[in-house]
Order: sequence, then C-alpha cells, then structure tokens
Amino acid sequence: MLKKRVLSGMRPTGKLHLGHLVGALSNWVKLQKQYACFFMLADWHALMSEYQNPQEIKEYVFDNLMDWLACGISPEEAVIFLQSEVKAHLELQMILSVITPLAWLERCPTYKEQIKELKEKDITTYGFLGYPVLQAADILLYKASFVPVGQDQLPHLELTRELVRRFHSLYKKEVFVEPEALLTENPKLLGIDGRKMSKSYDNFIALSDPPEVVRRKTEAMFTDPQRIKRDIPGRPWLCNVYAYYRIFKPELAETVRQGCLEAELGCKEDKRRLGEIIIETLRPIREKRDKFKQDRKLLREILSAGNAKAREIAEETLSEVKAILKL
Ligand code: TRP
Repeated sequence: MLKKRVLSGMRPTGKLHLGHLVGALSNWVKLQKQYACFFMLADWHALMSEYQNPQEIKEYVFDNLMDWLACGISPEEAVIFLQSEVKAHLELQMILSVITPLAWLERCPTYKEQIKELKEKDITTYGFLGYPVLQAADILLYKASFVPVGQDQLPHLELTRELVRRFHSLYKKEVFVEPEALLTENPKLLGIDGRKMSKSYDNFIALSDPPEVVRRKTEAMFTDPQRIKRDIPGRPWLCNVYAYYRIFKPELAETVRQGCLEAELGCKEDKRRLGEIIIETLRPIREKRDKFKQDRKLLREILSAGNAKAREIAEETLSEVKAILKL
C-alpha cells in the first residue's frame, strides 16, 4: 500500500533550539519511518518577515539543514527540500489567492498576533497577509494527509482545509486532500528565563551550543522564585528546571521532585546536573553536525536531490489544478 504523506516546514530565520528538538524534530524522525514525509525549509515564508535582512536566510537554510540531519532526519527516508527551489509553490499560491476571501486572512489570529508582536519588522505588507495561502499551497501540492505542527499553526491548517472545500465546490472537481494537523505530544519547553522560548528573547539553548555554553545557560535558569535559600522547600510544579527533567531525564524526575519538595536537593546542584544531561543529549547531535559542517558540498547535494523529488510531485499536482482551470 502507498504510504500516506506528511508535510511540514520550518522557517530558516534563526538557530534551532531544544524546543525544536522536542516539539518537532524528534517527532519528524519517527514520522519518516511511517509515512512518506516531506520536510521543507520555508525560505519564502522566512522572507516575509526577514526581508530587511535577507542575507541571513541562506545562512540559516544550511544551518537548520545541518541540525535536521544531525537529529536524524534522513534524506533516504524523507524528501528534504527548499521551498524557493520548487516554483510550483508560487504558482499554486497565486491560484489559491484568487479564491481566498480577504476576510479569511484578515481575521486569522496568527496574523493579528504577529502584526502586534513583530512591530519592529513592519510586516503590514501584501506578502505577509498571504502567508497562510502560501502555506496552503505548500501542503496541497503534496496532497499531504497529515501536517505535524504546533498549536499556533492550527488556524493555518483550518484555512487550508477551507480552501480545499472552496476549490472543490467552485470547480466541481476533487484534486486536493484535506490535511489534518498532527499535534506533538511533548509539552512546550519554556526558555531559560521562564518566558516563551524565542529568538527575540535570546533565552534558548541551541542545538549547536557547545558544552560550556549549555553549562552557563542552565546555571542561569530560573527556578521557584520563593526558594531563596536551600532549606526552603521548593514548588517543582512551577519550576522550569523540573519541567526540563521531565522531558530530558524522566527517570530522574521523581527524585528531583522529592528532593525539591523536601528541601534536600539544592537548585544549584539540580541545575548543574541538568546541564550535564542536556550536554549528553546534544553530544551525538553536535558530533554529527560537525561532520556536516565540513561538507557544504554534501549539504547542497542533499538539498538538490530533495528539490528534484519535490518538484516532480508538486508539478504533477499543479498540472492537475491548471487542467481544471483550463490554464
Ligand atoms: N508556518 C510554519 C511555522 O511558522 C512554517 C511552515 C511553512 C509550514 N509552510 C508550512 C508548516 C507547511 C507546515 C506546513 O512554523
């Protein structure tokens, strides 16, 4: 039987961090065994917010690609490609854009939120308003049944599904597959300062951080603010360090919880050990990454092979769509 397809993407706008590992990449690695997976570096989407510094996008394309490969995304199992190298994305975006009511885009919660949050980037542009239309094209070209994404992307998935229905009902032909979101199970990791992990807060541990940086960052992590002395019992349920244990060393989490509740384990010691745990988690990733770092040619080859495979499938869908529209 033909495997069902999965498509997901990331915008190459910064270094990947622990949140990407537990929220997406470790899941992708499992999915690639089960489904026909397409993993895309969404550089057009990156350009929509980074157009003032476009030179960084290319850097992060290769940087993120190295992290993907180092985490176990395999070009033998999945199609890894660069969005801008598959022209069909823009063509389908154009076609979809003419059937997308403006109101669907204007009322999109992610749009409203980003406009508020990214004030310094001036994304009140025609291009950015169309962000979800391009994302719909990304998904529909590959007839993906499933799209692993975070909670924040659900409105885009919903819009994609609405576009499928609208297209089918307008032209009385069924070309597309209505995709379903696959939500990741892992709870969200907060940044080392307890706020949302974010590039703009600079509060994350990058997958490429060397051990001494991981040590420095974990030692700076926020714990229970009321536990100002070691002999005061802590409240692990609101301690970020405990949350990290639950994800990166679940077999130790109970001991940590007890130690904290009973004021037997100090925060400093607790954080020091967490640092070593994260260093160990990242070690194999860093080693693999270092190999790719020496070999830009190999990275280019992996991408261009993936681009070619993606193109083939995307072109086929695009031809079907154009035939329906008599274009
Ligand atoms: N919008 C996604 C994000 O910011 C990235 C993305 C672009 C994507 N195209 C996609 C995700 C298609 C899933 C499917 O995370």
